[in-house]
Amino acid sequence: MPLSQVSSQPHLNVRHTLEMRVAHYGHSYLLRYWDELNDIQRRRLVEQIDSIDFSLLARLSAETTTERRVDALAHRAEPPPALRLVDFHRAATAPAARKAGEAALRAGKVGMILVAGGQGTRLGREEPKGMLPLGPVSQRSLFQILIERMLAVGRRHQARIPLYLMTSPSTHSATERFLNEHARFGLPEDDLHIFCQGVTPAICATTGQILMSDRDSVCLAPNGHGGMLEALKSSGGLDDACHRGLEQFFYCQVDNPLAPCCDPELLGHHLMQRSEMTTLAVAKTGPLERVGNIVSIDGRVYILEYSELPEDVGAQVNSNGSLKFWAGNTAIHVFDVAFLRRMADTPGALPYHRAKKVTAHLAADGQWITPTALNALKFERFIFDLLPLAQNAIVVEAAKREVFAPVKNASGEASDTPECAQAAMLSLYQRWLKAVGAQVADDVPVEIGPGFALDAEELASKLIPGWTTAKPTYLS
Ligand code: UTP
Repeated sequence: MPLSQVSSQPHLNVRHTLEMRVAHYGHSYLLRYWDELNDIQRRRLVEQIDSIDFSLLARLSAETTTERRVDALAHRAEPPPALRLVDFHRAATAPAARKAGEAALRAGKVGMILVAGGQGTRLGREEPKGMLPLGPVSQRSLFQILIERMLAVGRRHQARIPLYLMTSPSTHSATERFLNEHARFGLPEDDLHIFCQGVTPAICATTGQILMSDRDSVCLAPNGHGGMLEALKSSGGLDDACHRGLEQFFYCQVDNPLAPCCDPELLGHHLMQRSEMTTLAVAKTGPLERVGNIVSIDGRVYILEYSELPEDVGAQVNSNGSLKFWAGNTAIHVFDVAFLRRMADTPGALPYHRAKKVTAHLAADGQWITPTALNALKFERFIFDLLPLAQNAIVVEAAKREVFAPVKNASGEASDTPECAQAAMLSLYQRWLKAVGAQVADDVPVEIGPGFALDAEELASKLIPGWTTAKPTYLS
């Protein structure tokens, strides 16, 4: 029975039950401040201890490396099976793929998963990253940008596209409040399923002790975007998708304003290849680019973190000088609903990765410690680890400038800042404007909302040739 359910019993019983539980795994120090806590604080601590899977934690902390052993195989890596932009086959199949994707959308078979549970530590803002005002002229938030795009795709295909939005305890209430305040940016209430992912505790990298963030709180962090699988199932999201007759999910992350939400061509390639999981890739700009590498090992598709691909392997080139391992991860995928269901019913389908982090915490003497070096271990699951388990997994290439401008770092950093993403958005709209014969100087910001046009073709039907503006403009 969860300890939180015995907390209504007399104080001593609760304490005793707690003590037995934490002592069994060597974590008695978590109750160090128990006698000083009031009822509310005790209840919080009980709930947090309840949320910890101590036997899993014991196993993960005992291992010296990640649970995932693929790095040992990285020397056998080959380029993945892919539909590349330059391939003749891709050009020939693109129209049929678009049609197949459009048909799936029209038939109401597509839903979208958006993951927004991360803590956004590098960006360094208090509120969830999805609330970041990013529209270069409109100041629309990342949530609004992505939801409006999904809705525009739905309108174009006369389809309802339900959104499955993952939050974490760090982002849940603020996200829910924000979406309600803005009437979900037009998304019907019935078409939004918000679900909260699980957490794992941070442990001290040297002692293995669970770090505490306060006398009544443990340092808990979201369990990685791979936590989506378990949380989608346990929240009833997978059942909901099945009841609605969904067959595919488009998946993206909240930090990429260019994500091509529910793109018909991507969906269509997934369907035509009979793939259970398809991933969208962009060509890497160099062998050492800090981006996940999509590779094939022993006939299975994997995404290796940039540190996992040995430098000599990553540096290999084809006879024309191009990178052999060209495929960079965008974290944009298409899943078969049936595949996610099967994986959610497969215990341990997703391994845990361990990462060293800098984590401030309360020390044994009650002092607040703000370390300057990596002091903590955190354990996370990554959703891309489902790729090797998928039948006919395939990679589809897109041009980076069209689909990928992630917001990771705070303003002033060299890359992946809000300003970089805004510049990428404006430059995409400039290209559309040029393609339709509009006359706009390069330094005049024009933002195009998805309700106005989803692409250059649609823009051509809305603007007369020679259309011009000399001031910042938001076409909505
Ligand atoms: P990142 O790994 O880049 O993390 O997440 P982050 O939270 O955005 O930023 P840092 O690393 O703390 O600076 C990529 C995407 O995955 C989601 C994030 O919300 C983001 O959309 N994510 C990440 C989750 O939903 N849950 C997680 O546990 C981790």
